[in-house]
Amino acid sequence: SSRNLRVLLDMDGVLADFEGQFLKRFREKYPHDPFVPLDERSGFYVTKQYYALGQDIGTKAFGIYEEKGFFLDLQPIDGAIEAAREMAEMEGVDVYICTSPIKKYTHCVVEKYQWLDKHLGKEWMERMILTRDKTVINGDLLIDDKPNITGGMNPPKWQHVLFTSYHNRDVVLQDGQIRLDGWLPHSRWRDILEQKRQE
Ligand code: TMP
Repeated sequence: SSRNLRVLLDMDGVLADFEGQFLKRFREKYPHDPFVPLDERSGFYVTKQYYALGQDIGTKAFGIYEEKGFFLDLQPIDGAIEAAREMAEMEGVDVYICTSPIKKYTHCVVEKYQWLDKHLGKEWMERMILTRDKTVINGDLLIDDKPNITGGMNPPKWQHVLFTSYHNRDVVLQDGQIRLDGWLPHSRWRDILEQKRQE
């Protein structure tokens, strides 16, 4: 078709390793508390799983990603930066970053911009969409690790590409969803985009 394909990329769990950083910081800060190893993660919210270990553990978990520096220091997911760059350079493809800040926005919001600047550069500020409701954003594909994305627009315009993460490995795909098992090899995400373009 004549118009560009709009691809929305989630940050946490897709470009940036929220889970790995969370666990690392939690263990550093609370070495004597119980924790959830990555291969035992289930459910989107880390905090929910930590609250199940005790009210105090849940509160501590919350505090981890509210701290200054948490979002800025996230490591890129393997292959993510290269994939984002390559996708943005593709003819006929427009890439946006679509991310939900935490409610305690003080560090998170500015650090999300700083992270993008640090890893992808100033031009990417133009692509940034911060929203707590991704369903109202117009796009052809949303690549996101959250299994059930709901909001005010039902159904959303985009097709959901579920990006595999520890917490969603065993999740059964819903109607219309497709799975992307990581950024490598690049042929995987390229195939998904090509397929969508041909619809
Ligand atoms: P996302 O849907 O754009 O990936 O955003 C996820 C946001 O949710 C991110 O800012 C971190 C936050 N979050 C929590 O508040 N609690 C959690 O347990 C997890 C995993 C994420």
